[in-house]
Amino acid sequence: MFPENLLSQIPQKSFLVTGGAGFIGSNLIGFLLKNNAKEVRVLDNFSTGYEANIQEFFSNPSFKLITGDITVFEDCKNATHNIDYVLHQAALGSVPRSIADPITTNNTNINGFLNMLYASVANKVKRFVYASSSSVYGNDTTMPKVEVKTGELLSPYAVTKKANELYADVFYKTYGLEVIGLRYFNVFGPKQNINGPYAAVIPIFINELLNKRSPRIFGDGSTTRDFTFIENVVQANLLAAMTENKEAINQVFNIAFGGTTSLNELFRIIAKTLNSKIQPEFHSERKGDIKDSFADISKAKNLLNYKPEVDIINGLKITVNWYENQL
Ligand SMILES: NC(=O)c1ccc[n+]([C@@H]2O[C@H](COP(=O)([O-])OP(=O)(O)OC[C@H]3O[C@@H](n4cnc5c(N)ncnc54)[C@H](O)[C@@H]3O)[C@@H](O)[C@H]2O)c1
Repeated sequence: MFPENLLSQIPQKSFLVTGGAGFIGSNLIGFLLKNNAKEVRVLDNFSTGYEANIQEFFSNPSFKLITGDITVFEDCKNATHNIDYVLHQAALGSVPRSIADPITTNNTNINGFLNMLYASVANKVKRFVYASSSSVYGNDTTMPKVEVKTGELLSPYAVTKKANELYADVFYKTYGLEVIGLRYFNVFGPKQNINGPYAAVIPIFINELLNKRSPRIFGDGSTTRDFTFIENVVQANLLAAMTENKEAINQVFNIAFGGTTSLNELFRIIAKTLNSKIQPEFHSERKGDIKDSFADISKAKNLLNYKPEVDIINGLKITVNWYENQL
């Protein structure tokens, strides 16, 4: 899955995973510790993350948890001290959450991001890899989405992710901080939050069906997404952190599988995997949502050597199985 020459360097490197108690962060930590990273440090305030996601790492001497907040500069400074690579995941996700509370989303996703960038400069971090989002494509209708072509933004969340990309670019130009942005497309897999109003569609569908309830679909179900299994996203983060290809620096990359699945198809696959006959309920479309999303991943393939290995069908089998085992 991961090039041997890069894998062999992990034991000499220290990583900071912000948002490490969350879905993507905790999966990154699992990969790094499995590959004997020298140190894996986490900065998380547990606002949407869970101790349960990282409990299995507590006994590993290379693992260090800092409970703190990216909106506090001192916390970012402590967390980045003696760190080689920052994998910045901490943010408030969800388009509807950002519409309900744009101020908190802005504070975390923009002020917190700026703190992390500046702390990384102060502590001479080697590279800063950060989570952007497919939401930056806004209302652009180009299909598949190519990095150079974005439209008008549709939500406060999308504004924050676009602002991250602008700040990262300027920090590369002004301070020489090596930055790489990853525009994730609907990531799914084990440890994704299943609870609350801002949970993502895959854990919601699985949870509802496991509890014998009808999941809600917003719109007529023809909305499409490029659902991306977590292992592909982990691979992309590590490639971005450790690639020796200087052409990849200060770039943003689509990180997806490179496929398209409608919500109706997604529902059918999950229902079939769970052997469920329950039907979904259809509701009106939500504000801020993009209608269709499908990524051209050739830039990540060419510059990062990214090769997504797990498709939606296999990813869903692993994911459904994981949630069933949590019951
Ligand atoms: N999951 C997806 O499909 C997806 C898609 C596009 C982009 N992203 C981005 O990827 C990143 C990770 O997403 P996720 O799905 O793992 O979300 P998540 O909510 O599971 O994880 C985010 C983590 O950040 C932490 N956090 C939030 N505010 C913080 C603060 N002020 N200080 C310290 N920690 C804080 C939370 O406690 C949580 O552990 C986010 O930046 C998100 O915007 C995710």
